[in-house]
Amino acid sequence: MSTTQTSQKTFPFKDPYEWYAVLRRKTPVYRMANGQYMITRYEDAQKLLTHPATSHWGQDAQSQVFMSPTQRHIAQTLYTLSPEADKPYRKQILHQLAARSLRIEEDHIHALSIRLIEDLKKCQTIEFMNDYAHKFTFISIASILGIPPSDVNDLCETARALDGGYINNIDGSSDNAAATEFINYLMSFIVAQRKHPGDGLAGSLVELCKAEQEEDSFILSLLILLFYAGHLNMMNFFGNALLALDRNRNYLAELKARDHVDDADVNELLRYDSPLQFIILYARERIDLNGTKIPGGSQLLVSVGAANRDPERYPDPDRLSPSRSDGHLSFGAGAFRCIGARLALLQGRIGLGNFVHHAANFGIKHELVTWRTTPLVQRGPKILPLTIEWR
Ligand code: HEM
Repeated sequence: MSTTQTSQKTFPFKDPYEWYAVLRRKTPVYRMANGQYMITRYEDAQKLLTHPATSHWGQDAQSQVFMSPTQRHIAQTLYTLSPEADKPYRKQILHQLAARSLRIEEDHIHALSIRLIEDLKKCQTIEFMNDYAHKFTFISIASILGIPPSDVNDLCETARALDGGYINNIDGSSDNAAATEFINYLMSFIVAQRKHPGDGLAGSLVELCKAEQEEDSFILSLLILLFYAGHLNMMNFFGNALLALDRNRNYLAELKARDHVDDADVNELLRYDSPLQFIILYARERIDLNGTKIPGGSQLLVSVGAANRDPERYPDPDRLSPSRSDGHLSFGAGAFRCIGARLALLQGRIGLGNFVHHAANFGIKHELVTWRTTPLVQRGPKILPLTIEWR
């Protein structure tokens, strides 16, 4: 995403919140050197996310003109999931990720998290991102898609080597070895699903794609997009949440005393440090925002991370407090709100609840923590080493 590459060198990955606070106070609608507008106030962000004159990243033919071929490929696939598109995929995914269907997954997700934790109990130091967050979130989404259990662990290793680089490889043009392996696996999986559709989400999508006469390359990009959205966001959620609990030990103590994690906790952790920091929009026509006239054709970088810490919406925003009402923008807002939000809350509740319950105490080796720098829209630690005492 062209935006993001411009500011990659100077972006404060470790802690962008002070920088956001200054922007929000001084220039809440900030025109960047490359002509994009960064939005940092909650009210403005919410208005734009649901504004009839904005389109969401790539979901407009005009905005696709400025994209590289790979970006255009992603945008075209994303468009088929949009509420406006005349395609059945969004409805199908929403149906399979509805509360009733997820009740079946709940036991699997719980068992997976306990299995991973029991395996880790022989270690007094772990690298939280790979040893728990990556495995838990990747295997969860892979199982929901219907990847056979016998293949999941190998694919999880391949995804580890791919290191979140899903969408750069969505059009199959990459020469990265892990990407080639991942894509080759998915292509053979698609062929198998075409012959005998499984009962996972991928099986039903393949059936719909058959009826819509889509090519295998389209199904491939749809699956890669679901891995990107379902795995990377969730993995980063866990890293950010653990760091947040480490900084807010009273809150951690409260969770331990309660011995479970609720949706309200997950929502507050998402507000406090969102895995998705920016949502990219496109102004279809001139928009007047907070006294600034944004010309039609502009790209808008809605800073969800900044909006979620706006003191006008959330008093004392740098404090974690599960009693806040929902309304954070980490899942977006309006018609385009994340279609995996229910699954994200479920995984967050179970995965974090079990970890907090089984880890009697943990300490973060802060000097060894490193941050993910691509894609810039995503925020999360890359390496998060812990010392840990298990129950
Ligand atoms: C904490 C985890 C997650 C966060 C923060 C998150 C955030 C978001 C946001 C902000 C959007 C909307 C972007 C826009 O307005 O243009 C979105 C869309 C989407 N999300 Fe999530 N997501 C998460 C987890 C998941 C999971 C687990 C899935 C699993 C399937 C998923 C699937 C999707 C898909 C397919 C879309 C695109 C649909 C569309 O274009 O409307 N997400 N997500």
